[in-house]
Order: sequence, then C-alpha cells, then structure tokens
Amino acid sequence: MSNTNSLILEGINLKKTYKLGRSQVPVLHAASLQIHQGQWTTILGSSGSGKSTLLHLLGGLDRPDQQGGEVLFNGESVWAKSNRQINAYRNNHVGFVFQFYHLLPELTVLENAILPTMIGGSFTTTSEAKNQAEHLLDQFGLSHRFTHRPRELSGGERQRVAIARALVNNPSILLADEPTGNLDEETGDGILDVLGALHQDGLTIVMVTHNMEIANRGDVIVHLRGGNITQLD
Ligand SMILES: Nc1ncnc2c1ncn2[C@@H]1O[C@H](COP(=O)(O)OP(=O)(O)OP(=O)(O)O)[C@@H](O)[C@H]1O
Ligand SMILES: [Mg+2]
Repeated sequence: MSNTNSLILEGINLKKTYKLGRSQVPVLHAASLQIHQGQWTTILGSSGSGKSTLLHLLGGLDRPDQQGGEVLFNGESVWAKSNRQINAYRNNHVGFVFQFYHLLPELTVLENAILPTMIGGSFTTTSEAKNQAEHLLDQFGLSHRFTHRPRELSGGERQRVAIARALVNNPSILLADEPTGNLDEETGDGILDVLGALHQDGLTIVMVTHNMEIANRGDVIVHLRGGNITQLD
C-alpha cells in the first residue's frame, strides 16, 4: 500500500498540438501537475482551454506531441511504454468518466458495467466480475435497473452506470471529464455526492470542470489557462 499523499500521477511539461490539414491548433504548451494519492484534484478551465485534451493525455487515451513532455504513473513514464503496456495502464489503473456517458446502447446496464473486465482487470472468473459490477451498481442505487438499456435511464442514472463501469476494474485513479456538465443541478449534485463518497473511501480523483462551485467539492483546484496549469490561490 502506498501511503497517502504520495505522488501517483504526474504530468510534466505536457504539450499537445492538433493538426488540421496544414494548420496547427496548439492546445497545451507546457502543462504540469501533480496528483497525490487519495486527493480529489479539480482542473478548472474555460471551454476550449484543453481540459479534455489534458485528461486524455493523463489517462493514456491520447499522446502528447513528440518530445511534448511526460506522464508519470507511480514514477514510470506512461508514453514510453509499449502499446500493450499503455493499454494495460488504461484498462487496469485508470477509470474514465466521460461527459456524455458513452454507454453502449445495445447492452444492458449490467453488461455495460461489466465490459471493462473483459478487456482488462484482474478477475479470473466472469461471476467474480459480475459480482463486482452488481455491487457497484447496487451502491449507486441502480439494483433495479440491471436489465434496462441506457436509453431507458435518466441522465443521472446513465452517469452512475458510467461511474460503475469506470470503477469495475478497481482503478487506482478516477478521471472524470465534466461528469455533471450535461445534468441539471440537482442531478449533478447527486453525482458529486457519489464521487465524494468514493473520495472518502480513499479513491484518487481528477475531475475537470468550468464551474467554480463544482470545483470547490475537491481538495485541490488548479487552473488550465493559456495551455498551462497554474495553481489557484
Ligand atoms: N481532435 C481534434 N482536432 C483538432 N482540434 C481539436 C481536437 N480536439 C480538440 N480540439 C481543439 O482543441 C481545443 C481544446 O479542446 P478540449 O476539448 O480539450 O477543450 P475543453 O477545455 O475540454 O473544452 P470544453 O469545456 O468545451 O469541453 C479546442 O479549441 C478544440 O477545438
Ligand atoms: Mg471538454
């Protein structure tokens, strides 16, 4: 077990430029941040500032530019690894919650939540994986919804399924991209309460938002501005 406050994830001078035909869209210049074990860090930034881009680099979903800095997970460079190891990082250590849920419409709630265990994770039997998915859905008040399809659920319920899916492989860290951005305030508060309870249980969370009030739910707020991270006073 790592002790609390130890560094778990670090972005060092992250640079990301999107290429659109001949034009280049610079998004991140030299963004650096440190995520400590057990902390809830919020990245605050306006729309288009590169919050999703940064979260994707941290979570192994997209690469920084050539020589565009490093992501260190437990001190090891994620992007220096082989593709297979990067997949393992993404599937086993990171839970990702998207703004628009990204649930598979043809699968049931339970099937959606189990899906990551078929790609990664450490479950040796399907019944173990199923138990874990059921346990999480149950914890999030969805035990009566196992066989429903996503389209039959409310936005808040869909996001809770997405959080269960993100947690099913027992990740070390949860990365949440504006998890309440698409929900009304009351439903969003319910989702933040779920994240708060997970954080109380020791989960490390990195959440991005453009909403200061939501950002205050976390322990640490950093600001993404002009392609760089600045600490808020
Ligand atoms: N695949 C892409 N190709 C080209 N440009 C992109 C791509 N993805 C994002 N961008 C651009 O990069 C910038 C940052 O995008 P990003 O999605 O990271 O911002 P964001 O802070 O998450 O915004 P929002 O709050 O609206 O979600 C934007 O100007 C966007 O248009
Ligand atoms: Mg975004």
